[in-house]
Amino acid sequence: QDIPSLKDVYQGKFLIGAAVKTPHLTGPVSELLGKHFNSITAEYQMKWSNVEPTEGKYSWADSDRLVAYAKANGMMVRGHTFVWHQGVPGWLFNHPVTGAPLTNSPADQQILLNRMKTHITTVMQRYGDDIPVWDIVNEAIDTKQADGYRHSRWYEILGPDYIAKAFEYAHAAVPTAKLYYNDYETEFTFKAVPVYNMLKDLIARGVPVSGIGHQMHLTMFNPTPKQVDDALNLFATLGIDQAITELDVGVSSRDLALPTVSDDLLVQQGYYYKRLYEVFSAHADDLVSVTTWGIYDAQTWLRGWPMKRAEAPRFFDDDLQAKPAYWGVVDPT
Ligand code: XIL
Repeated sequence: QDIPSLKDVYQGKFLIGAAVKTPHLTGPVSELLGKHFNSITAEYQMKWSNVEPTEGKYSWADSDRLVAYAKANGMMVRGHTFVWHQGVPGWLFNHPVTGAPLTNSPADQQILLNRMKTHITTVMQRYGDDIPVWDIVNEAIDTKQADGYRHSRWYEILGPDYIAKAFEYAHAAVPTAKLYYNDYETEFTFKAVPVYNMLKDLIARGVPVSGIGHQMHLTMFNPTPKQVDDALNLFATLGIDQAITELDVGVSSRDLALPTVSDDLLVQQGYYYKRLYEVFSAHADDLVSVTTWGIYDAQTWLRGWPMKRAEAPRFFDDDLQAKPAYWGVVDPT
């Protein structure tokens, strides 16, 4: 298709990213990726359970391939992700000798901290400057908890201090890397405010946080682009980098999963995308990259469990053809 390249259209504003899986690195999907995108994130290949499935036994093949592909094609890699309650191997929270679940005893805490430090250091130092940006901590806030923190195994064993520790280990491993806190629903005030407060506190304490990653798994009904603008304005006052890390614009509302996607909805989606990228463009001074969580519709996680929605969140359809979403973003005027 002889259409403008998205990365060229946004040259000088922010990088255009996509989440990728290994099979996308060859064939027609790879051509589309190379034409329009200049940043990639591993959809799952760099998660802990993939990289270190057994303690001390690293499995590098997929992530090495991704990094080599990015290098060969002049793309940035966003590393994703270290400290999360999902995508972690079974052994991580169990005692190495007894196999019993780790507790918050000082001895068990030390085991988990050592594992965190070793994993972060090993992975970051393997890639060095080839992965200049990492999502260090993912989804640590849970507004349903009285203290605001997700009560994950990390939290149960280590308390909230595990967050600062992860950033400190990462900074010590590769001092030049940009270290992000990444979370979802930061476009809504109820979540933006506690995330903002946590980051403000970490920064005030000298913890080396260099960016906020907004996942932005949106639908075109909610939030409004104005809400997104407000959120980016709020976080801009922290003085750190921002990135949109996992963008989705669903055409089904969260409450009503549609059986099929109509052409009319795809046109509406195009208008929503247009307004959204107008907002992003207005934030280009601190917004470093905008990553969609996939390259084309057939790749979307929204069609799988637990969402099971008839979804088409991307710029390109199942046959890799540009949709109204693409045109909305390519010509945001
Ligand atoms: C999802 C991937 O898309 C799936 O393929 C995988 O099975 C589970 O994880 N927040 C994140 C991402 O930070 O890593 C998640 O990705 C989506 C939610």
